[in-house]
Parts: sequence; C-alpha cells; structure tokens
Amino acid sequence: MPAKVLTIIGARPQFIKAAPVTSAIALHTGIEELLVHTGQHFDSEMSDVFFHELGIPEPHYNLDIHGGGHGDMTGRMLIALEPILLAEKPDAVLIYGDTNSTLAGALVAAKLDIPIAHVEAGLRAYQAIPEEINRVLADRLSRWFFCPTETSVKNLAKEGITENVHLVGDVMYDAVLRMRERALERSEILKKLGLQSGEFQLATVHRAENTGSAENLSRILEYIKDMGRDLPVVLPLHPRTRKAARKFEQSLDSEGLVVTDPVSYLDMAVLLDGCTCVLTDSGGLQKEAYFHGKPCVTLRDTTEWVETIDAGWNRLWRGADYLPRKTIADYGDGDAAGKIVEILTRET
Ligand code: UD1
Repeated sequence: MPAKVLTIIGARPQFIKAAPVTSAIALHTGIEELLVHTGQHFDSEMSDVFFHELGIPEPHYNLDIHGGGHGDMTGRMLIALEPILLAEKPDAVLIYGDTNSTLAGALVAAKLDIPIAHVEAGLRAYQAIPEEINRVLADRLSRWFFCPTETSVKNLAKEGITENVHLVGDVMYDAVLRMRERALERSEILKKLGLQSGEFQLATVHRAENTGSAENLSRILEYIKDMGRDLPVVLPLHPRTRKAARKFEQSLDSEGLVVTDPVSYLDMAVLLDGCTCVLTDSGGLQKEAYFHGKPCVTLRDTTEWVETIDAGWNRLWRGADYLPRKTIADYGDGDAAGKIVEILTRET
C-alpha cells in the first residue's frame, strides 16, 4: 500500500512551494497525496491561476475559509479540518511555511496523533509577527523538518530539535528552475504594462507590519514612490495592501509607480527577470530575486533569509549597505522536492 500523505495549503506562497513536491509525489509509486485547500487565499489571481500555471491538481477538499481575525480564521480551519483527517486517516500531514493554514493543519494533526512533515522548517525572524508564531508552533508539533538552509537547521538545534532534521534545499528554487523558460515563452506581462526589460524596478508589500497602520503604510509607500523617481516601480498590489490603502486613505497615484493587480507565477518570473532591483517585504521574493540574479531591498527590519544579506544580494531598507557579493551555496540543487518525497516514502 502506498503511504498516504494529506497536504494542507491555503495561501499563495504555499501553492508555489507545494507544486514541485506534488509533482514529485505523482511520479512516485510508493506514496499518494490528498490535497486540502483551506481557502485562505481565494481570489482567482491569488489562487486558481497558481494551480493552473504550476500544474497542481484540483484539491480534494476546498474549505473556503478566509477573512476574519487570526483566531477566527484559524479556529474555523480547525473545525473543518478535523473531520477530514478523521475520515481520511493519512499516514502523515504535510504543511508548508508559516501561514494560518500551516498552524491549523499542525494543530489538528498533532491532536489526532498524526505525524507532521513541515516544509520550510526552522526559519526564524526572532520577531513577534504572525508568521513567526505560526512557524515556531508548527515546528514544536512536527515529526519531520525539511529545512531550506544551514541557518534553519541551526535555529532548530538552538531549540533542542535535532532529530529528523533534513537539509534538503529550497522548494522555491525547484519551482524557479522548472518554470523559468515557460515564463519567458508565455508571459505577456511586459507588453501589457508597456515596459521593456531592464527599465523598471519591482516592488511588493503585504505584511501586517507594513500595512497595519496608517503611519507604517505611508512610510513604506513614500519609500517606494521615492525609489520610483529614478526608475519606474511596478507594484503588483496584494488585496491586503489595496484594502489598507483605501482604509488609511493613502494614494497610490504617483509618477513612476505602476500599480497592477496581483500577478501570476509566470508573470512574476518575467518581472523578476526584467527588473533591475526588487523591493519587497515578502520572504519568498527575497530569494526569488537572488534566483533571478537581482539585488533586493527588504522592506522590513529583519529577515529570516539571512544568507541573502551575508552574500551581498539583499539589504534591509533601513539597514547597512550591500555586503560584497558572493554566490549562495544554500537552497540546494533544485531537487529539494525529490529528497522530501524520498524521505517521506521511506519513513511513513
Ligand atoms: C498571508 C500569510 C503571510 C503570507 C501571505 C502571502 C498568515 C498569517 N499570513 O498573509 O505569511 O506571506 O499570506 O500572501 O497566514 N484577501 C483577498 N483575496 C485573497 C486573499 C486575501 O481579498 O485571495 C484579503 C483577505 O480577505 C484579508 C487580506 O487580504 O482581508 C489578508 O489576507 P490573509 O490571508 O489574512 O493574510 P495575508 O496578508 O495574505
């Protein structure tokens, strides 16, 4: 009997991370997957387009749970997930990253004594933000720790977690390698925005720490607008940021600022390829900037992806200048997904 893994995903970065693992599972006869989409991200451009472009199969369950406070959203996910896990009796639950969907999946599985595999384990910003709460708790409850970097392995060791810790590399690097060519062939985003490669910068903002108050949002938007005075900045706008701009009456009209709806994975790959520089508070995009050979300014006061800073590809917006540039050995060889699937197949 193949091992049965139940995967819980819900937010945009999780679709990207799960894509290579899901396709590696599909190729392996020793393991099968049931996919649960919590519904945390639900707009077609935040969800469906990623399933479609990345070839992720239709989820077996879509819980359609989104919005509300963190406790409200997480609570509803717990209630909806428990009967599914009870009925499906998986051998393991697979969770990704640090969202509310990650935490809900971890809590339900742990209470039912189903072993948990955490992809992107061990990341720490040492900061009291929602993502840190979710990832620390997910790591406390997990059996297998799939770490993207040496630093994440060391972070776990500091917390006394040393067993079943596997340095497999970064599944987002797998995804970039698989999709880059297809993106360059198919995406029409530059034409749509009327931009030429090499003539724009790329920015994204969505974190609660930047969008949660008028003061913080205005500070970050001013910084981006200021950067746009040198070279246009493309800003694909996350729904949270659009809502915040409306609520705090912040204008997004500015010369040099090209605001668009959220873009698909392939369009983002082309924007990364064509930009001169990335400005972002996203974790994933900091690394994707590096994978595409672009310098990054992180719009936060700290980052989990410290190796991008150490290697001179990234800097904090209010921090020191870029260090001398080096290649980053971490992130693996583009087969993190294959390694994860091998380990899970052997050990479940
Ligand atoms: C979540 C994750 C964050 C991750 C980010 C990626 C948590 C705590 N945070 O933040 O770690 O980096 O996803 O995008 O899980 N919304 C829509 N349409 C959508 C999705 C969201 O309108 O398709 C709205 C929601 O209703 C909400 C706001 O955007 O009002 C924020 O969404 P939410 O899922 O709460 O968190 P994110 O900010 O996306």
